[in-house]
Amino acid sequence: MNTTTIPAASKTGSRSGARTLAVTSGKGGVGKTFVTANLAAALAAQGQRVLVLDADLGLANLDVVLNLHPKVTLHDVFTEKTTLEQAILPAPGGFHVLLAGSGMVEYSRLTPELRDKLLHIIESVKPRFDWVLLDTGAGISDVVLFAVSMATDVLVVATPEPTSLTDAYATIKVLATQQERRQVRLVINQANRPGEGKLICGQLQQVLQRFVGAQTFRLELLGEVRNDPMVRQAVLKRQLLLEQFPGCDAAQSIKTLAARLLAS
Ligand SMILES: Nc1ncnc2c1ncn2[C@@H]1O[C@H](COP(=O)(O)OP(=O)(O)OP(=O)(O)O)[C@@H](O)[C@H]1O
Ligand SMILES: [Mg+2]
Repeated sequence: MNTTTIPAASKTGSRSGARTLAVTSGKGGVGKTFVTANLAAALAAQGQRVLVLDADLGLANLDVVLNLHPKVTLHDVFTEKTTLEQAILPAPGGFHVLLAGSGMVEYSRLTPELRDKLLHIIESVKPRFDWVLLDTGAGISDVVLFAVSMATDVLVVATPEPTSLTDAYATIKVLATQQERRQVRLVINQANRPGEGKLICGQLQQVLQRFVGAQTFRLELLGEVRNDPMVRQAVLKRQLLLEQFPGCDAAQSIKTLAARLLAS
């Protein structure tokens, strides 16, 4: 595939490298990949150079969402069958991707080799981009937690479902205690009514205050994305929501998230 559009290393010297943002959740199926891909497109639309790394190494599906059929993946980079340059592919939406494979049981466990390879990849791509987004898998396995640890910023995606919120809370607690995170951002996805995100974030903040300590930790609501039937339609068509239905409610919310991230 043509990789000639990979952005050149920044010559401005204004920043040493990309901002790295891990998107994680605890519970699966809450919309991490949807949010990551569309957030990437929204940031790219603002002139940002964005790379999305599919950090769901064993059960990757960013390629499915983007309707890409990659001949090269991170697995080929790890096994030195291809170079990192060749594995960075242009995606619809004006950003780039590093895709992973699916059904790869060898990536369900964090080995020292995998750690080193992932770290090397992140450090190598940072000078080329303004943003590196890491779309993690569900859960708090050592692979997921390591992927999150590589990022300077964390975005936790949760839905209003009690099970999703319980898992989001557990994840945030682990990040605050084990990784000594001082700040985590929250997106309430599939919100049922306006203001639900703020309400839920407030409740989570209260519980966290009791168990983690308000002085040392801050949970910040980046925003909410409404439950929108257009999202499923776009996913079924394997298209980005921002390209397929740019005016719909959820697309507008994603653009707001991107604007807030840029302003932060
Ligand atoms: N705002 C929304 N409105 C309606 N449906 C949504 C919304 N966000 C996500 N969905 C639905 O949820 C599905 C799962 O989303 P997605 O694959 O992004 O979740 P995930 O957290 O990445 O899952 P996994 O944990 O398996 O990686 C989507 O295919 C879509 O149908
Ligand atoms: Mg996913």
